[in-house]
Amino acid sequence: MLKLIQTDSSKEWSLEEILVACEWNDQAVAVGAGLGLSNAGLVEINETVETNIKLSTQGANALEGGLLESRLWSWISSTNNADMASLQQSFERHEAGPGVGLLKRIGVQLRDGKFVSDNDAQVETIISQRSNFLSSLPDLVENLDAEMIDHFKGRKGFIESQESTTRSWKVTNLGLSIDSKSLIEKEMISEITPELLQSDNWRDAEFRPFDVTLESATPRTGRSHPMQALIERIRNIFLEMGFSELVEDYVQTAGWNMDALFIPQDHPAREMQDTFYLDNPSNMELPEDVMQLWSDIHKHGGETGSVGWGGDFSKETSQKGLLRTHTTVNTIQYLADNPTEPCRMFTVDRVFRKEAIDRTHLPEFHQIEGIIMEEGANLQMLVTTLKTFYQKMGYPEVRVRPAYFPYTEPSLEIEVKWRGKWLELGGAGIFRPEVTEPLGISSPVLAWGMGLERLAMLVLGLDDIRQLYISDLEWLRNQPII
Ligand code: PHE
Repeated sequence: MLKLIQTDSSKEWSLEEILVACEWNDQAVAVGAGLGLSNAGLVEINETVETNIKLSTQGANALEGGLLESRLWSWISSTNNADMASLQQSFERHEAGPGVGLLKRIGVQLRDGKFVSDNDAQVETIISQRSNFLSSLPDLVENLDAEMIDHFKGRKGFIESQESTTRSWKVTNLGLSIDSKSLIEKEMISEITPELLQSDNWRDAEFRPFDVTLESATPRTGRSHPMQALIERIRNIFLEMGFSELVEDYVQTAGWNMDALFIPQDHPAREMQDTFYLDNPSNMELPEDVMQLWSDIHKHGGETGSVGWGGDFSKETSQKGLLRTHTTVNTIQYLADNPTEPCRMFTVDRVFRKEAIDRTHLPEFHQIEGIIMEEGANLQMLVTTLKTFYQKMGYPEVRVRPAYFPYTEPSLEIEVKWRGKWLELGGAGIFRPEVTEPLGISSPVLAWGMGLERLAMLVLGLDDIRQLYISDLEWLRNQPII
C-alpha cells in the first residue's frame, strides 16, 4: 500500500482506488494496513464522518397516512365541536393520548373544553415543515435541518441516523523518503486455520496483532425469523418438560371449537363479528351421537349433574365451518380420541379472530396451548407448570389471578412481570365435567392457552405487534439471536 501511495505525493487515495490497485476485496484489510502506516508516520489519514438520516417504520407510516398532528389538526379544523370526548371517539386510544401532547406543543390548547389555537397559520406552518422534512428524507443527505432531526429523534421509530465514515490516505514526507525498492511484501498471518497449522508454514510466519478497536464489517448471514426462532425455543422447553407436540388443522367446526368446550351457542364471541366463519366449507358433517351428547349437556347438563345452559341447541350451528379461534379445539379433539391415556400435549400454532389491527391486536396470531391429563393433577401442578415455563423463558415473576372461561373451573389468568408491570399473557384452568365427562375422561385435565405474539413483544422489546410481520429487513438483521 505504501508503494502505491508513494507514486503520487499529492494525491489523496480513496478506499475504492486502494482496493482496486492492491487487488484486495476486504475493506477492513485496507483500513488496517492504512492504520499501520499511519501509526508509523508514513501516511496521513483523512476521515470525514457523514450522518445519514433515514425514515423508520413510524416515519414511513406517517408519510403515507399523514402525521398525527396533521390529521388531528384537519379534524379540529373541520369539526364543529372539537372537544376531548369527540377526539377520543374519532381517534384510537394510542393516538388520542399522545396526540393531545403533540398539539399542545405546537400551540393548540383545550380552552373551555374545545381545541383552539392562538395562531392557526403558525400551527399549519409547523405541521407542513414537519411533513416536508419527512417527505424529503429518502434523498436528503446534506443540509439537514438540525431542529427537525432533534424533533423526530424524540419521537420513537420515526427516523434513524446512520454514520458513515469516508477515509482517504496520503503519503507523508517521511513516507516519501523511504526508498520504494527497499520495500518488500511480507505476508502476515491474521487468521489461524487448520490448514495453516498442518502445513508448518506458520513456523516462519509473522503474526499480525489484533486491534479490536478497528472498525469491521458486520457479517450478514441467513438466519431464522425471530418468530420462528422463538417458536423453536418454546418447543424445546415443552419437549424438555416431557410434553409431546400436537399439530392439527385450523379449519374446524363450531361444534369442536365451541360446543365441545361448553361455550353456550348464544355466546357473543361466536358472532360473525368475532369469528371467521367459512363459505367453503360452510358445513362439515359431524357424527350424530357426538352432537347429541353436546346437545344434552348444553340443554340440561346430561349425566354430569350440571343443569346445562338451558334453551335450545342447534346441530346445524355445530356443523358450521370456521377458522379456529383457539388451539383448545385441537386439544379437546385429542382428548376425545384418547380419553383414558394420561398425556402431556402442547401446540404452538395459528388462530384467527376478527380483530381490528392495532398496536396489540392482529386477526391472525399464535397460541401456546397445552394440557396435562393424569390422575391427581391439580391446580398447584398447573400453576407450577406455567411458572416453570415462563421461568425457562427468562421471566421468573409469574402470578395467576382468577378468571372465567366457560370450559374450565377454576379458571386463571396468567400474568408475567415485565419492566415493573404485570402483563396478561393467557388463560388456564381445569376442564369442567361438562367438557370431560361426555368424552369418557375421568382424570383431571389441566389446560392453558397463551398468546405467542404478546410474549414475542416482551422477548424482543416491541411496543407494536405489527413489527413482527412487516418484514423490515433492517430490523430483522438487528434482532438478537434467540
Ligand atoms: N382458549 C383460551 C383463549 O383462547 C385460553 C384457555 C385455554 C383457557 C385453556 C383455559 C384453558 O384465550
